Amino acid sequence: MDELAVSCKGIKKTFGHGSAKVEALRGVDLDVKRGELLLMMGPSGSGKTTLISVIAGILTQDEGECLISQQNFKRMSDQDKTLYRGKHIGFVFQAFNLIPTLTCRENVSVPMILNHMDKKDAMQRADRLLDLVGIPEKKETLPQDLSGGQQQRVAIARAMGHDPDLIVCDEPTSYLDHETGKKVMELLRKIVKEQGKTLIVVSHDVRIVDFADRIVYLEDGQIKHKGSL
Ligand SMILES: Nc1ncnc2c1ncn2[C@@H]1O[C@H](COP(=O)(O)OP(=O)(O)OP(=O)(O)O)[C@@H](O)[C@H]1O
Ligand SMILES: [Mg+2]
Repeated sequence: MDELAVSCKGIKKTFGHGSAKVEALRGVDLDVKRGELLLMMGPSGSGKTTLISVIAGILTQDEGECLISQQNFKRMSDQDKTLYRGKHIGFVFQAFNLIPTLTCRENVSVPMILNHMDKKDAMQRADRLLDLVGIPEKKETLPQDLSGGQQQRVAIARAMGHDPDLIVCDEPTSYLDHETGKKVMELLRKIVKEQGKTLIVVSHDVRIVDFADRIVYLEDGQIKHKGSL
């Protein structure tokens, strides 16, 4: 039996109250196998960011169960959840969320240092990751002096720094030109396949289809179609 990296059942999440109430997730079932590269597509507002935030333990669902490598965030203390997330999950945010006062090298090394890696080793690993994502010349640069595509690549390097089992990327190629987008996806796929990691990519980008093992479509907070490639 394949070990499931992610197993979600009946996930519901509502934001706001009264007339401002939004049912972002209306009962989502989703399993993702270890070593799988899953592409999640769907229109704007369909709940993609909300779902991967629940999966990554950044948001808590109102109803339903979500197991990540058989761990249930709902049953963990906030501290244990933060520790688990910091060790096992890498997240590339839609808005990058880089720390503006830190250089690229420092930004990438933060999760490693939080995981108690020696600072010098963390900086060296950060440099290697920045080489890998194709911006070796930006190690000392602050995020404000980078293009959107370059910030995106720093965010991807940062998500991989602490060697997580599960990587979740929200629109990782939206700011990247065709060639760079392809290179980043090739790199992510290589890491997933060679190292047995699991990757969930949210994207509108049809170029990513070629790199995915499977596609799921979200619409109005529900999975409409589970495609297989
Ligand atoms: N923090 C929040 N407070 C209130 N409503 C929210 C919040 N986050 C998301 N929503 C609402 O929940 C719904 C789903 O949002 P979500 O961000 O998950 O969509 P998405 O599929 O990621 O969209 P996009 O493709 O534009 O990024 C939307 O109607 C959105 O307005
Ligand atoms: Mg989104």
